[in-house]
Amino acid sequence: MPTAIDVFAKVRGHERAEQLRAAREADLLPYFRRLESPAAPVVEMEGAERIMLGSNNYLGLTADPRVMQGARDALERYGTGLTGSRLLNGTIELHLELERELAEWMGTEEAIVFTTGHQANLGSLGTLLAPGDTVIADSGDHASILDGCLLSRAKLRPFRHNRLDKLEKMLGRAADDGGGVLVVVDGVFSMEGDVAPLPQIAELCEAHGARLMVDEAHGAGVLGARGAGASELFGVEDRVDLRMGTFSKSLASCGGFIAGSHEVIDYLRVQSRAFLFTAAAVPAAVGAALAALRVVRSEDGPPLFARVLENAEYLRNGLHSLGFHVVDSEVTTPIVPVVVADDWNAVLLWRALYDAGVFVNVALHPAVPPAGALLRTSVMATHDRATLDRALGAFESVKRSFEAEHGPLPGPA
Ligand SMILES: Cc1ncc(COP(=O)(O)O)c(C=O)c1O
Repeated sequence: MPTAIDVFAKVRGHERAEQLRAAREADLLPYFRRLESPAAPVVEMEGAERIMLGSNNYLGLTADPRVMQGARDALERYGTGLTGSRLLNGTIELHLELERELAEWMGTEEAIVFTTGHQANLGSLGTLLAPGDTVIADSGDHASILDGCLLSRAKLRPFRHNRLDKLEKMLGRAADDGGGVLVVVDGVFSMEGDVAPLPQIAELCEAHGARLMVDEAHGAGVLGARGAGASELFGVEDRVDLRMGTFSKSLASCGGFIAGSHEVIDYLRVQSRAFLFTAAAVPAAVGAALAALRVVRSEDGPPLFARVLENAEYLRNGLHSLGFHVVDSEVTTPIVPVVVADDWNAVLLWRALYDAGVFVNVALHPAVPPAGALLRTSVMATHDRATLDRALGAFESVKRSFEAEHGPLPGPA
């Protein structure tokens, strides 16, 4: 008997199919646009120059000669790929140096390097949590955190974004679940750009005997005197059990890491399937990450952290005075999101900005809550004021013509 249902049926009738078709037909799809130059403050995209307000290259290090040389040296010495896992034949001296220096930077006993940041979350959460345990996660946490939690089959107790009362309630409930408890939050939330209230979260975890993990993907290389992230900024590094980071943002490469105690990292080294059963990153990626980390930890680091945050403040104030609703954040981060609310309006606005020479990211559900569409803008340390002023000028004229045609956009909160 043949099966009644084609397993591929879902690819034809999924909930976004109609929206996707309409957006493609009108050339309004904000995704998969072709970049034709390095991810600089101003890029070439699809035949035109556009101001890049949609990159995570926060410090601008992808074009730094020291970082490029780090990638080149690794390529020359080790070739194009390692063609095997860290466990068997993919560990090179650069991995070990990188792990040592990451641990020093984070102030932890050890660190372990994964091929991507996504795998770092998957391979740590999916390994350290087990059925019977409970994981409590902020609803704004990155998808890779959720994926790691689901993989582990631990009981998942999500709480409303940054609501300490809800977190406390979940910690209370978790006490009766009977297993170990881990709280996991983004230090800087990737779409909203706001920060987790880490001192209060650490206090709640301590009161309930729960472990705490912080994803520093967007905070590392930007926040704190050493640029070690939100945990450093809030002075809670010694109260956070595990810190995750990526190389795909400030560290100008690709890859990820977990920093923590010797016993936990050592366990991941021999148990984490996302570490053991995948090829090590290409040498150039490891060499670039190591060189970028050295820049961040040198005397050149702090001026770059200051510069990206000044740029973010400048863009935030500019957008606010133009009458946009910019998501509030207690702490300035490189991410400056503009609330549009309606999905289709967000896409139309994105296109108008794109045509006016500015590239931003569009965040729609499930990246944000339903009816919470955002234009996610972000800055680099290497944006100069004239470029940001040009971008603000484009926002101003696009807003004027958009509102004349479609009615008012959400205003400042
Ligand atoms: C908060 C957060 N965690 C983890 C990841 C995954 O990192 P990567 O893109 O390096 O795999 C990202 C990147 O998208 C992120 O924003």
